[in-house]
Amino acid sequence: MSGKVLITGGAGYIGSHTYVALREAGFACLILDNFSNSSARVLERLERITGARVDVVDADINDAKALDALLMGGDIDSVIHFAGWKAVGESSQRPLKYYDNNVCGTVNLLKSMQRCRVTKLVFSSSATVYAQEASMPLIESSPRAATSPYGRTKLMVEEILGDLCHTDPSWRIAALRYFNPVGAHASGLIGEDPTGTPNNLVPFIAQVAIGRRERLTIFGDDYPTADGTGVRDYVHVLDVAEGHVAALRYLADNPGLINVNLGTGRGTSVLEMLRQYELACGRAIPFAIAARRQGDVASCWADIAKAREFLRWQATRSIAEMCADSWRWQQLNPDGYR
Ligand code: NAD
Ligand code: WQD
Repeated sequence: MSGKVLITGGAGYIGSHTYVALREAGFACLILDNFSNSSARVLERLERITGARVDVVDADINDAKALDALLMGGDIDSVIHFAGWKAVGESSQRPLKYYDNNVCGTVNLLKSMQRCRVTKLVFSSSATVYAQEASMPLIESSPRAATSPYGRTKLMVEEILGDLCHTDPSWRIAALRYFNPVGAHASGLIGEDPTGTPNNLVPFIAQVAIGRRERLTIFGDDYPTADGTGVRDYVHVLDVAEGHVAALRYLADNPGLINVNLGTGRGTSVLEMLRQYELACGRAIPFAIAARRQGDVASCWADIAKAREFLRWQATRSIAEMCADSWRWQQLNPDGYR
């Protein structure tokens, strides 16, 4: 194996799990994070899981000098870029905050990579880039259209990456469109630690199960789905992490840009998820039905043929494992990393 993988946002939820997967696969890694949405405590947890010191730099992707200093030395031969903001609702309130960090920050990173001739990149895109009218399952060529500034940042970066690969054949880029990553490492040492009220379903259920919140609010039971609640493609975060290892291996032999879905290809409803979580934690999870949440679609799941064919990757972990691992993390860390 040659140089190190620079992981921007490597202290975050998906980045920390990807660090573990990369180390297990034999890659040397360097985490870059400004800890704006993560805790430095994750580092000691990563050391416990991997049994080795974690290489980390406290820096911002908007800091060109810091990036150049890391990328210029010749130690880094690829970048996995997770750093960015991800709250869909907040992005509608504060769009410039999102365009600044997610788009300008990424352009800053790309400029530094170009200056330093590091041209292998895996980018965190999202299923949110697909148009709401697209039919299921979503294939990589399905129509795209964003419904929030957050989604638009992902679409814009995908376009920028396409332009870059058109003009300079030395780039090798995988834009991975994650569906709904959930769960945690089986050790219970690392997991998702949202600040404030969780926006996403599984962290919310976990906090109800542990007694931090009274009940789950289910946003709508009148969708055209089997039980009326929304259907999503939940995918274990460690499967997603392993998808990044597969993408790096793919890029070793393939120049240009590839867009790939990371999902399981199966949809699960809110009520099914709730029932599975109840089985995992052995207690009833109170809930109430409320109106639909603005911007939500009825159903969303991935076509996974492209990931299988090109990345030779496929998710292997079940919904039951996602719930069991989320619950273990929640029980061992009732207040997250705090
Ligand atoms: P996260 O917030 O847990 O991790 C992001 C990390 O980036 C954090 O540790 C944060 O401190 C860091 N960061 C933010 N801005 C930075 C900056 N300017 N400089 C340096 N570090 C910075 O989020 P996550 O869930 O791990 O998501 C990772 C990526 O995947 C994001 O780009 C997100 O948009 C994308 N994504 C996430 C999901 C999801 O459901 N979690 C789905 C699709 C796509
Ligand atoms: C899942 C289902 C809700 C919370 C979001 C982003 C997307 C991507 C992943 C980054 C839906 C229902 C939820 C609750 C509920 N992130 N729900 N009560 O909306 O599919 O995707 O995260 O790229 O961009 O939009 O995930 O977990 O918020 O919702 O009933 O308290 O759970 O209505 O049907 P979503 P989610």
